[in-house]
Amino acid sequence: MCTMVKKIKLVLFGNSGAGKTCIVQRMRYNTFNYDVNLTIGAAYTIYTVADNIKIEIWDTAGQERFHSLLPLYARCAEIIVVVIDIDKNIDEQFLKWNKYIQDNETLFSPNVKLILIFNKHDLNNDFEIPKDIVNQTQFGLITLVSAKSGYNIDKLKLHLDITVKKYIDERARASHEYRNNFNNSNSNNSNNNNSNIENSSNDTIFGYTFSNMKVNAGLLECKEKIKKCII
Ligand code: GTP
Repeated sequence: MCTMVKKIKLVLFGNSGAGKTCIVQRMRYNTFNYDVNLTIGAAYTIYTVADNIKIEIWDTAGQERFHSLLPLYARCAEIIVVVIDIDKNIDEQFLKWNKYIQDNETLFSPNVKLILIFNKHDLNNDFEIPKDIVNQTQFGLITLVSAKSGYNIDKLKLHLDITVKKYIDERARASHEYRNNFNNSNSNNSNNNNSNIENSSNDTIFGYTFSNMKVNAGLLECKEKIKKCII
């Protein structure tokens, strides 16, 4: 039997040295390496959640000189993970990456899920995530981990599994609703020969041709979002 593999795009952000690469290595191989090379541009890996569910991980470079490249990797991200080094200035890192996400909102998938990770718990076992950050509701998970000791890495993996499955469900539902809207709109259209033609181009999205038909505002918006993410 042939099973369709579903893929989710995850992008890691964080300052250079925050431990993004080490977290990915801990998650994938359960190992920790002191001498990790600086990431240049971005590193790409696949993390398998289940036989038919895979996460495509883009581990971006934290160094400032690579920042202009971030939009290339972050385009249509479905999950964003921000990594903060608890051994450095936390507020500065948080404000910087939170602002980056807000400023680039239109770049990501409309349903993007956000995860915030504080790394290097092993350096300070008494560390507590600041209350004002805990209250930031845009993040589905805010957690403290250590790539070195493996602290909370299982919790992170579990949360990722759940988030990915939820995301795939939402994506399937949205696509189903989209198809229904499309069919309804098309059948309304065939009953109304005097319809306004709002779109006369012949672009095809997921096999549907948007030509000479009345497209309602919701459908247009949906079309634009999908178009943005598949080109
Ligand atoms: P860039 O590639 O420059 O973006 O950095 P990065 O965020 O990928 O950091 P990386 O994973 O390369 O780790 C940077 C340094 O932090 C390395 O020397 C790691 O050994 C160290 N490091 C990473 N995670 C931990 C941790 O949990 N605890 C401690 N003590 N050190 C860590």
